[in-house]
Amino acid sequence: MVVSQPASEVLAPDLTVDLAPNNPRELVIRNPVIPASGCFGYGLEYSGIVDVQRLGAFVSKGITPKPRSGNPMPRITETPSGMLNAIGLQNPGIRGFIRKYPPIWESWRVPAIVNISAETVEDFAMMARELDDVPGVAALEVNISCPNINAGGFCFGWDPDMSAQVTQAVREATTLPMIVKLSPGAVDVIEIAQAVEDAGADAVCLINTLVGMAIDTRTRRPILANNTGGLSGPAVKPVAVRMVYQVAQAVGIPIVGLGGISNLDDALEFLMAGASAIQVGTAVFSEPGVLIRLIDDLTEWMTRNGVHTVSEIVGVANPRFRSHVSVSAGYTDEVAEG
Ligand SMILES: Cc1cc2nc3c(=O)[nH]c(=O)nc-3n(C[C@H](O)[C@H](O)[C@H](O)COP(=O)(O)O)c2cc1C
Repeated sequence: MVVSQPASEVLAPDLTVDLAPNNPRELVIRNPVIPASGCFGYGLEYSGIVDVQRLGAFVSKGITPKPRSGNPMPRITETPSGMLNAIGLQNPGIRGFIRKYPPIWESWRVPAIVNISAETVEDFAMMARELDDVPGVAALEVNISCPNINAGGFCFGWDPDMSAQVTQAVREATTLPMIVKLSPGAVDVIEIAQAVEDAGADAVCLINTLVGMAIDTRTRRPILANNTGGLSGPAVKPVAVRMVYQVAQAVGIPIVGLGGISNLDDALEFLMAGASAIQVGTAVFSEPGVLIRLIDDLTEWMTRNGVHTVSEIVGVANPRFRSHVSVSAGYTDEVAEG
């Protein structure tokens, strides 16, 4: 005979995650579901159709030192199981941004994470200083997938030393929780992750888009005016899961995983690979409700499977997982010995 438990006795799972356990300013989020940078505007744009306050946090569109109007059109195109974008970081610049958005976010209960991009180490530091004590800003996400103009345009995020320099400069400029967003274009993403952890990152986030291209065979020209663009969506998911899995074996700070997530199973893959939280980008464009659906589905899945906290599933598919989240004594001990 099956005896069902009265609803009142079923404990609701705890979806809380701490993304900056080593930082006194903390980044405790009420659930691990976060819209990705560039795919959720500044939060306001979606507030009429998504209950933004239910999200774990949200990440702003990438901000740069000066205003940018972005690349010429066309700057997005669909590809099999994904999309290419070359928006070109259209944004109002750090000063215009600070005047406009954080005063609105200040009254929100959902933490706002500001994504910053720059072409010099000094500009990264300048933006971090400007944002350090702005009410309404909970944390920074440092996008190192941008060209370093002092290194001939070579991407910061492809080189461990340059990635560490940016991280250290931002660390010295602010006490805000800092998530460094890694590029999948790096030859060795593990080396980059370790470099930014050593330089003071509170967490890492991966992956950003992969550089791609599509050609219109009728015009015989690249489809995007910029020629190349960033590939995102389901097409990149296996690459992202693999990178999260590898990085989770190499760093002890929390990992935020993303790349092609559009349903519960995708999200669970990232958590089980070793991510403490997940972000959703491309899927938001076709289904803005995906974020709330993921929170509800994860809550329901945890309840049904007797999983009480997110940390119970983080890294369970990864025998050499070594993040700060204690999954089981066995895993922690194995790493301590290795
Ligand atoms: C239209 C668009 C704009 C983006 N803008 C940014 C940005 O400003 N800063 C950033 O770090 N990543 C940006 N990204 C990358 C996403 O945040 C995310 O890393 C990537 O799309 C992979 O996730 P997904 O497959 O869920 O979209 C952008 C992606 C898209 C599709």
